[in-house]
Amino acid sequence: MELFRTQNLTKIYVTESENVKALNDVSIKIDRGELLAISGRSGSGKTTLLNLLGLLDSITEGDVFMNDISFGSLNNKAKSKIRRDDIGMIFQAYNLIPVLTAEENVELALNALDKEGLMRLGINNKADKRNFCIESLQSVGLFNLENRRPHELSGGQQQRISIARAIVKQPKVLLADEPTANLDKENSMNVIDIIQKLNEEMKLTCIYSSHDKLILESVKRIIKLEDGSVC
Ligand SMILES: Nc1ncnc2c1ncn2[C@@H]1O[C@H](COP(=O)(O)OP(=O)(O)OP(=O)(O)O)[C@@H](O)[C@H]1O
Ligand SMILES: [Mg+2]
Repeated sequence: MELFRTQNLTKIYVTESENVKALNDVSIKIDRGELLAISGRSGSGKTTLLNLLGLLDSITEGDVFMNDISFGSLNNKAKSKIRRDDIGMIFQAYNLIPVLTAEENVELALNALDKEGLMRLGINNKADKRNFCIESLQSVGLFNLENRRPHELSGGQQQRISIARAIVKQPKVLLADEPTANLDKENSMNVIDIIQKLNEEMKLTCIYSSHDKLILESVKRIIKLEDGSVC
């Protein structure tokens, strides 16, 4: 069953000095339950493609369909609902809030949900919310660290908090933009193992952007970009 389809997707960044064509006529399909990587050299368009799948940036030409819903047809409110409910993202730089504890960072994802989103998860009160966050942290192997702040944790642990934050809302897809770029081999393998498990056990669709050999060896399919085109 198809989750994503891009149709002649093109992205042009307009800057003061020039227009940069970052994606050129990309038409791909991604099924539910896939574990795949978008690879390619630096500047080939990997982050741009991931950002368009995650509704983080505007499409120049073409379209993205998620569960047959055209992103091009959605207004901003509908887009943010999909972003909040269905899309989990993690980044190279973790993007955690430094003044919040591990648990509070995870809770941010739940606080963004509306009533309907919380009902979908069966969250009725503060205690439910806390349990969801603790369970999410435990599912990425973080036990008894919920009250620590990001700077009191290792890089690998911080990235695992960001995974916990991305998956606590049970999204339809996890988009991971170079999640191992700042990690040593051991911590990279740890993150890769966690994502592999989420894919196998929870059937979570996971899409990486990466040129990390360890990631490319762990996925079932690679989509390669060159100068914004699939090759
Ligand atoms: N906001 C922006 N404004 C202008 N050009 C941009 C912008 N973001 C990216 N680009 C350009 O678009 C192209 C694709 O960039 P993108 O970040 O998608 O590449 P990437 O494959 O993720 O690279 P990396 O491996 O270095 O992360 C590059 O030429 C880049 O310089
Ligand atoms: Mg990138």
